[in-house]
Amino acid sequence: MSSRTEQQEQHGQGGQGGQQASSVTVLGLGPMGRALTTAFLEAGLRTTVWNRTPGRDKELVERGAISAPSPEAAVAASELTVVCVVNYDASDAVLRRAEVAKALKGRTVVNLTADAPDRSRSTADWAADHGVRYLDGAIMTPTDSIGTPDAVFLHSGPLELYREHQPVLDALGGTHTHLGEDPGRAASYEIALLDIFWTSMAGYAHALAVAKAEGITAKELAPFAQGIGAILPPIFEDYAAKLDAGDFSGDDNPITSAVSSMHHIVHTSEAHGIDASLMRAAEGMARRTVGRGHGADGFVRIAEILGDRG
Ligand SMILES: NC(=O)c1ccc[n+]([C@@H]2O[C@H](COP(=O)([O-])OP(=O)(O)OC[C@H]3O[C@@H](n4cnc5c(N)ncnc54)[C@H](OP(=O)(O)O)[C@@H]3O)[C@@H](O)[C@H]2O)c1
Repeated sequence: MSSRTEQQEQHGQGGQGGQQASSVTVLGLGPMGRALTTAFLEAGLRTTVWNRTPGRDKELVERGAISAPSPEAAVAASELTVVCVVNYDASDAVLRRAEVAKALKGRTVVNLTADAPDRSRSTADWAADHGVRYLDGAIMTPTDSIGTPDAVFLHSGPLELYREHQPVLDALGGTHTHLGEDPGRAASYEIALLDIFWTSMAGYAHALAVAKAEGITAKELAPFAQGIGAILPPIFEDYAAKLDAGDFSGDDNPITSAVSSMHHIVHTSEAHGIDASLMRAAEGMARRTVGRGHGADGFVRIAEILGDRG
């Protein structure tokens, strides 16, 4: 998250002068909405909350939050509303109610709900049609990071609007990066980053099953698993320097070698009756890349083949 392009604007913890209104509304009180609300309260902001299922605000109200009886009452209480619900079907179900849209007119929504980039763009279009000022965003770290320097927030949408609300968003702690005016851009980054995360987690879950079948406990594997994980960041950095320039060279680790290594995992898994479809899919992508004459290239040549719908 440290590198950025010229169109990105990044800032960390700390207010920007405090001239922005010191109130905020939070819609959605799941684990993340509660963490956001707690951070706002700890920063001394007047924080109004609403959740679809009543009663989930009890602890927050005890800490000073104001419980709104309806989403329209909640959004009317602040110039800025932060939305954090399960997905955009849920955020649409709240924001697009006629009475909520009416109350939001001229006010700002920062939607920190996770979903696909096209959903962010269509909600931004809806907001523009209804006179609602709209920023989209993504939260890339878990609930316990919120309000601490470890939190990572991505934002997209009109830069001036983002700057206007930066002082309130800063109350959430961590690093905030504005990635561009396209409202879907934060979600685009999020999808790419979660692609890394979930395929890694799926690999880890599969590795635990294979290790167990070979008599290795999760605890025995853990220090070595951490070692494998630590290999990845320098690989990302190394490839980032080369990939955008179209350099797919394999150096000491060509795809042909990766295919062989992956096949050992398929063989061992299936010998234990463990589903190897995840690794078979990866091996298949690598074999197709070799089949196209790129066997001497590095593993990430696969990205180009996938992009070609290969
Ligand atoms: N938890 C994390 O560590 C984490 C980290 C990064 C990003 N995020 C993202 O943050 C967002 C919120 O996550 P979460 O952890 O708080 O829990 P979640 O289970 O993803 O979302 C729960 C919230 O969504 C609401 N909701 C669900 N369907 C709804 C509907 N149809 N109408 C209105 N509200 C609805 C729930 O209301 P009810 O209480 O009424 O069911 C609750 O407030 C998600 O997009 C998630 O991907 C979470």
